[in-house]
Amino acid sequence: MIFNGSPKAGGNTDFLIDRFMTFLGEKDVVKFVLREMNISPCRGCEKCSMSGRCVIKDDMHDIYEKIEKYRFFLFFSPVFFGGVPSILKSAIDRCQPFWARKNILGKKFKVNKRKGLVVLIGGTSFVKGYECAALSVKWLFNVIDVAENKTFYYMNIERHSDFLNYNIDNDIYKTMEFFGESER
Ligand SMILES: Cc1cc2nc3c(=O)[nH]c(=O)nc-3n(C[C@H](O)[C@H](O)[C@H](O)COP(=O)(O)O)c2cc1C
Repeated sequence: MIFNGSPKAGGNTDFLIDRFMTFLGEKDVVKFVLREMNISPCRGCEKCSMSGRCVIKDDMHDIYEKIEKYRFFLFFSPVFFGGVPSILKSAIDRCQPFWARKNILGKKFKVNKRKGLVVLIGGTSFVKGYECAALSVKWLFNVIDVAENKTFYYMNIERHSDFLNYNIDNDIYKTMEFFGESER
């Protein structure tokens, strides 16, 4: 599963995902461009604590279904104010039913050996902002039993040409190695 957390179409996050996609291939990948989806913020109603399901009827249910089934989770996002943009944060918060199922209702995920990637793109080199943004995604990883994860920070990215300061091909290679080409 690939999550695109950028609110900006054609921006730096889209550009980087396109580069990764040329190697990953579209076949086995399901991509969620969150800005194109209707995902409300979590209301904190805690109904999911009893049922393990979210009462809000929106596009998040497609994500819930896939999170149950998939093993590999790739998050690409810009850093906004030392965090992830609200569209991604909303999707993460809406994963509370998974927390409830695991910690209150005692249910386990059927899929194990899960792995995750967090790719953050920012305009500064203030590393704490990246770490803070990564923590939100890693918190989700903890809830959905993603035991192993890898992180890339692309700093000082204002425009596409700023990526020339990075060896993206090498990062893609490391990503493929991490996920294990043979396991796909
Ligand atoms: C509202 C807003 C907040 C931002 N906050 C940060 C920040 O805290 N740290 C940082 O490094 N860059 C920050 N930036 C810069 C973006 O992360 C950066 O320009 C990124 O490349 C944008 O990616 P995109 O083109 O996919 O939207 C911010 C940009 C915006 C619009």
